[in-house]
Amino acid sequence: MTFALHPHATAAGKVILLGEHAVVYGEPALAAGLPEGLTLRATPLGVTTEVATLSIPAWEIDVQLDIENEHPAARAALAVLGHCDAPLRGYRIVGDARIPARAGLGSSATLTVALARLGLGPRAAASAILEAATEGERVFHGAPSGIDAHVACHGGVVKFSRDLGANRLALERSFDLVIVPTGVPRDTAVQVAGVRERLAASPEVYEPLIRALGSTTMAGIDAVLHHDLARLSTLMNSAHDMLNALGVGHPQLDEARRDALEAGALAAKLTGAGGGGCVVALPASGAVDAVMGGLTERGHAPLIARIGPP
Ligand code: PMV
Repeated sequence: MTFALHPHATAAGKVILLGEHAVVYGEPALAAGLPEGLTLRATPLGVTTEVATLSIPAWEIDVQLDIENEHPAARAALAVLGHCDAPLRGYRIVGDARIPARAGLGSSATLTVALARLGLGPRAAASAILEAATEGERVFHGAPSGIDAHVACHGGVVKFSRDLGANRLALERSFDLVIVPTGVPRDTAVQVAGVRERLAASPEVYEPLIRALGSTTMAGIDAVLHHDLARLSTLMNSAHDMLNALGVGHPQLDEARRDALEAGALAAKLTGAGGGGCVVALPASGAVDAVMGGLTERGHAPLIARIGPP
């Protein structure tokens, strides 16, 4: 039986503070939801036999949900909606995106989770949403750790690991992050495969780095829970250097990082898969406007993300 699509659904973007790549190998990661990720609206077309369409202008996506269509967004959407037993005809789905695509901010997971919510409705269990979203995530990423889909579904600040899933952290105080998109597109699957190759070729070099990134995450979680921004900043700066050593850096990430530090941030590191995408910077308490201003003066288009309680 095929059900109707629900009229709208949202999903959160995400920023990884610590632990990217290491999380693929069982280490913990620390991530936070970006509440204004993606909102999808589904409108019935007059003709129910007409192929459904998906358009997200901010991401330059405008596709027909036709099984012949090779576009990854169409394939992922068909995988998710098919899993939900949702209609693949007779709807126009339009997305309002508040995060850039392919920048390491979880855009693909916002799409797959929001589609699963359109298909299964607001009362569906989170586990059912995640199961459906994972079908789409596989189209985009091959073998994702699942961190993006978890945060897209639940939001909040989470410790995530492959075995234990997502654990929400109860922060007493919030803090601000500044996200700096480099505009360099990146491909998570390519970066993950590169790390896998280097690990296979020289495990004695890269395995200790993976473990150190995991320990950095654990120390970072402690720092976040104690609102110790000085300690968090040291850990974030070290993580950036370790990720560069892992081979997932990019000259424009280093440049954006330098600009963030020059603009007064305590720390800045690449976030997500690397090879492009974004830098996440940590301003000192009360210094977010100065860091935003300094980055804008240097030609960037930074975004603010408030982490923790409102
Ligand atoms: O897609 P991104 O840039 O958010 O990267 C995801 C994080 C990785 O650890 C690199 C991959 C994964 O599946 O966890």
